[in-house]
Amino acid sequence: RRITRVHHLAQMKAEGHKWAMLTAYDYSSARVFDDAGIPVLLVGDSAANVVYGYDTTIPVTSDELIPLVRGVVRGAPHALVVADLPFGSYEAGPQQALASAVRFFKEGGAHAVKIEGGERIADQIAALTASGIPVMGHIGFTPQSVNGLGGFRVQGRGDGSDQLIADAIAVQEAGAFAVVMEMVPADLAGQITRKLTIPTVGIGAGNETDGQVLVWQDMAGLTSGKTAKFVRRFADVGTELRRAAEQYARDVATGTFPGPEHSY
Ligand code: KIV
Ligand code: NA
Repeated sequence: RRITRVHHLAQMKAEGHKWAMLTAYDYSSARVFDDAGIPVLLVGDSAANVVYGYDTTIPVTSDELIPLVRGVVRGAPHALVVADLPFGSYEAGPQQALASAVRFFKEGGAHAVKIEGGERIADQIAALTASGIPVMGHIGFTPQSVNGLGGFRVQGRGDGSDQLIADAIAVQEAGAFAVVMEMVPADLAGQITRKLTIPTVGIGAGNETDGQVLVWQDMAGLTSGKTAKFVRRFADVGTELRRAAEQYARDVATGTFPGPEHSY
């Protein structure tokens, strides 16, 4: 298997190959996804929700995310590992963004960073790119702005389409190597995908983007409660894991585990 780096994603767009990206937050899951041939792993700030149990991505810090990046990089020798810069670590300007991204590179070992926002953070994207740090953009619904956006809502509808197109172009012109589009109408996402030279990665953005991304716990059925409309569950790992834990507890209680074959 070949190693994936940013220029391969451009190649895949040129060749019309669609690709899947998944989140990962630790060594063990990263190994599984890397073995499965997933070319891009994202240490998302969705770790706020699925690792740390926060309600939104707003509280999670670089100090909480960087150790997760280290584990994923060790578990994924082939995949491109992208790390999210968390809320509060890049908004103040290019200098702050650079200082934060440098930490994710030097301490975490990430290959690229992702930052939320379009036109408003183009200067940050340009500064990182100029320093040799590949940047993935993220436009449309940006969870770190959930309060400003008034909730989990589809972006780019009606008059919003012009702003979304402007954001996509700004991100590309600032030097990003790819851009995530979250919760935007499928037709608009397709239109932007054809307009941009860099690959687009959709989540709740229909079927015409170059790549797709899901949070792995959503993809595998490990998140509880109602999931978003854009999620397909490809497995029911939660039920299976619970079954294993119950069986283990039962076998310990009844004295059937450990057996002679597990004993010294
Ligand atoms: O944090 C995250 O998991 C993300 C993806 C879902 C795009 O930003
Ligand atoms: Na994120």
